Amino acid sequence: MPADSAGPAHSTVPITPDRDLPAGGLTPPAPQGLSILPVVGLPDFRPGDDLAAVVAGAAPWIADDDVLLVTSKVISKCEGALVAAPSDPAERDAFRRKLIDEHTVRLVAQVKATRIVENSLGIVAAAAGIDASNVHTDEIALLPNDPDASAAALVAEFARRGRRVGVIITDTQGRAWRNGVTDVAIGAAGVDVLDDHRGGHDVFGNELVVTQVAVGDELAAAGDLVKGKLSGVPVAVLRGLRRAVAPAPARSLVRPAQEDLFRLGTDLALARGEERGRELGRAQGWAEAVLLRRTERRFTGAPVDLDVLRGCVAVALTAPAPHHTRPVRFVRVAEHRDALLAAMAAQWEADLAGDGWSPERIAGRVARGRVLADATEIVVPFVTGDGRHDYPDERRRQAERTMFTVAGGAAVQGLLVALAAVGLGAAWISSTIFAPMVVRSVLDLPADWEPLGGIGIGHPTEAPSPRLAVPGDQLLQR
Ligand SMILES: Cc1cc2nc3c(=O)[nH]c(=O)nc-3n(C[C@H](O)[C@H](O)[C@H](O)COP(=O)(O)O)c2cc1C
Repeated sequence: MPADSAGPAHSTVPITPDRDLPAGGLTPPAPQGLSILPVVGLPDFRPGDDLAAVVAGAAPWIADDDVLLVTSKVISKCEGALVAAPSDPAERDAFRRKLIDEHTVRLVAQVKATRIVENSLGIVAAAAGIDASNVHTDEIALLPNDPDASAAALVAEFARRGRRVGVIITDTQGRAWRNGVTDVAIGAAGVDVLDDHRGGHDVFGNELVVTQVAVGDELAAAGDLVKGKLSGVPVAVLRGLRRAVAPAPARSLVRPAQEDLFRLGTDLALARGEERGRELGRAQGWAEAVLLRRTERRFTGAPVDLDVLRGCVAVALTAPAPHHTRPVRFVRVAEHRDALLAAMAAQWEADLAGDGWSPERIAGRVARGRVLADATEIVVPFVTGDGRHDYPDERRRQAERTMFTVAGGAAVQGLLVALAAVGLGAAWISSTIFAPMVVRSVLDLPADWEPLGGIGIGHPTEAPSPRLAVPGDQLLQR
């Protein structure tokens, strides 16, 4: 059927230029306007189906120079890139996460459960493009193995039927800094996917130094206007595009890693690397995490994930310490919690009574100091005597103790920041510093373990936002 004869008239969307076309300079890929036509009546494809035959049968009006915009999901189905998956929603989700891990070559960013990853095709997408929508509830679709090859195969199949078409295989993606999703080209054949204007001039004579138009993505997005996400129309036909002059695979739309200006930025956002982001379950820039830390005294009571707590302690213990030692220990107080709090309260009450306070005043003061009792978890930091040098005189012995104590403080700050980075709140409370013997006795610890307070930890009642840094002009003094 000739190109100008037909298509489903009701769904044709002609876009006609209402202005004079530019004289010289940049020529748009569709100077006379475009039509985008849905291919309706396609079945639910299954592995082994002949996609070209079915599409050609459903749309005999496809003509030379048309471009087929094919949703990657149908390619995945026809090529058998489907994986049997559990139907139970929770198990299905866990299984999908496992698949995402398997198809991830680089974690680009992660916020809670959402992961933006690079897959082996170099495509950066949420969840590696692994999708549980528009498939049976006991299956999950992977991306096609080689979408450019799939597009080339479709072009060849149509050529065999006497039609010279281009093909774009589309996938839906979000974009950094933009709300909403749009379709992009992940496979292409017989289409100019990248319109390179570099070295050309605009109508005003300005040289275009960097302009490359991602025509492949523009076409993919245009196709979505008639395909939609839920309407069961996985293929559209685009008519009016000038014949390809420099057809290229969609792979050429992927920016090479060495030219990616944001690669360093995302590494920083991942708190110094992918593994850290994975361990902690949340990406957060270090600079922002430091500003997120604040003393949090009110907690929801929701349990704290001990793996996450362990990850934060592991981060904290990277803090510097004298003589290449590791003198800091964090002790999570579990079954001794009530005994510890009661013994410390008794010590505090005895101290205040010794200061001459009345019983009522003591009761009021101790009642106000319940921060640890209200915390979901209590962790007591200790600095041990491990690796401490001995000296014959008291001045240097005291200096050595101070040196280890400040190293403990550095590790505690590391823990508080690491907790803030994963959304946990914490309050560092002095209490145990004033009752070291009581603490060692209740927790049955060696005599040279010095407690450095107590850290109450939990999910904060309000999510904190980063605060402003303290103005530095007076702080860094000459
Ligand atoms: C070594 C140390 C001991 C602390 N002891 C207590 C304490 O006993 N009770 C308390 O409510 N806060 C305690 N804090 C928290 C401070 O009051 C808090 O850090 C300060 O008010 C600043 O607030 P911010 O941490 O939100 O920046 C302590 C902090 C440090 C570093």
